Amino acid sequence: MEQSLNEKIVIVTGAASGIGAFVVKSLLHENVKHVAMLDVSEEAGTALQDELNSKYNNNKVTFIKCDVADKENLLKAYKVINDEIGYIDVVINNAGILDDSPDSYMTEININLASVITSSLYAWNKMHKEKGGKGGTIINVSSVVALSNAANVPIYSATKIGVLKFSTSLGNKLHYSRSGVRILCLCFGLTNTPLLRNVHKLFDTDAIGLITEDLQNYKSQSVESAAKAVIETYKQGDSGSVWISTSDKPAMDVTNAYDKSIEIFDSYVYS
Ligand SMILES: NC(=O)c1ccc[n+]([C@@H]2O[C@H](COP(=O)([O-])OP(=O)(O)OC[C@H]3O[C@@H](n4cnc5c(N)ncnc54)[C@H](O)[C@@H]3O)[C@@H](O)[C@H]2O)c1
Repeated sequence: MEQSLNEKIVIVTGAASGIGAFVVKSLLHENVKHVAMLDVSEEAGTALQDELNSKYNNNKVTFIKCDVADKENLLKAYKVINDEIGYIDVVINNAGILDDSPDSYMTEININLASVITSSLYAWNKMHKEKGGKGGTIINVSSVVALSNAANVPIYSATKIGVLKFSTSLGNKLHYSRSGVRILCLCFGLTNTPLLRNVHKLFDTDAIGLITEDLQNYKSQSVESAAKAVIETYKQGDSGSVWISTSDKPAMDVTNAYDKSIEIFDSYVYS
């Protein structure tokens, strides 16, 4: 059954620019009750909040400055939303960076993976039907590099594979049947956002030629297509499902293919 966003309270992390900013706009078209935008970028976040609140004249958007990689900061933002906005129905863990350079990869791991786990677990516990919640949905943003060959960004890929595995595991029917919290994983292909300015931030700066050459093989999609895919994944996705949004094509549910790959390895593990 198609899920509706009507009157839902939604959190979007990394909402001040790129895909996240467009997701916020798309959510307003779906008549959500409120969107809490979490981002480190205060200037861009506040500007978008003010723009959207004056455009729609309904104060449905609240920007909260938050570094998602800082656990205390993240949980404080959740508390503000709980206390001042209301029950959280949907969380879109979208914040992420691409920076495999030796000085920054730990930050990348913390933002791209650790914060997704912390945010998901907090929301999952709050929404869990056997813990006093009424269910909900968490969409975790991964990348096609988690499913395809991406040798040039090994650390970024590792974080995105982590997001994929975490989401399919926590979203498994084993947990969903008790929690009522859908966990969905959406893998974006190359998308035209500020993140792509960082493709030179590699674990090996000597490899830069390889990645720029490699990138020429791919067509990047628009943020509009990526945001549309978020909405479609929300409406159609079963818990534990895996989706791809790439090359401006409609969002694709690739759960069967993903499950088949797992089955192949299961046949080795359990034989
Ligand atoms: N752009 C692509 O080609 C592409 C491809 C696959 C997956 N993705 C994923 O999509 C998501 C969105 O990326 P984007 O392309 O829109 O990038 P972007 O750089 O345009 O936006 C990322 C947003 O996250 C925010 N952010 C960064 N660190 C943060 C932190 N510690 N706490 C809170 N906010 C933080 C930034 O300020 C920014 O507003 C990321 O998870 C990214 O890995 C992007």
